[in-house]
Amino acid sequence: MLGTLVAVKPATWFVNAGLRTLRAFVPSLARPDDTFAAQWLSGHELDLYQGMDRRDRDHACRVARALLAAHPGAPATVVRAALLHDVGKSAVPYRAWERIVVHLCRPWREARGEAAGRDDTGDAGATPAVGLVGLLAWHRRHAARGAEMILAAGGDPEVAALVRHHHDPRGFAGAELIRAADADT
Ligand SMILES: [Fe+2]
Ligand SMILES: [Fe+2]
Repeated sequence: MLGTLVAVKPATWFVNAGLRTLRAFVPSLARPDDTFAAQWLSGHELDLYQGMDRRDRDHACRVARALLAAHPGAPATVVRAALLHDVGKSAVPYRAWERIVVHLCRPWREARGEAAGRDDTGDAGATPAVGLVGLLAWHRRHAARGAEMILAAGGDPEVAALVRHHHDPRGFAGAELIRAADADT
């Protein structure tokens, strides 16, 4: 597994993975820039953001900032979707060891040629995760679940669509920007 990761990921990914691991176990190290997020989000979308774990808010802000650094003229809907791209993870408590396993397994699955986006855009999954296999299946559906949360809250359908496709951006140009910023953050 490690050999596969070394082959497919740049050095910055390992640095970021190490920092994410640290923040996963010590949530107080996460520094979400909620003021920055509130400059882009309002109403129900801001409520959803504020309902996320501080580690996920930290990650969301890093992804949105990376996206803006690479694409300063990115549409506001894309930036808002970047801030909410992992909101589907907030539906259930997300323990530190689960964060590490999920973060490590995604590039490994992608390197093995599995369709990373297949489950992300399908059924949102009504059944909570049970065991490691259940956890990974539950996680794979977080994009669809996040999109449904945004729609259910009365959020922007365009933002919801970008969130639904943030791991499978084929045909969604804005979602590709989110996926690229997310990949190494
Ligand atoms: Fe995601
Ligand atoms: Fe993410």
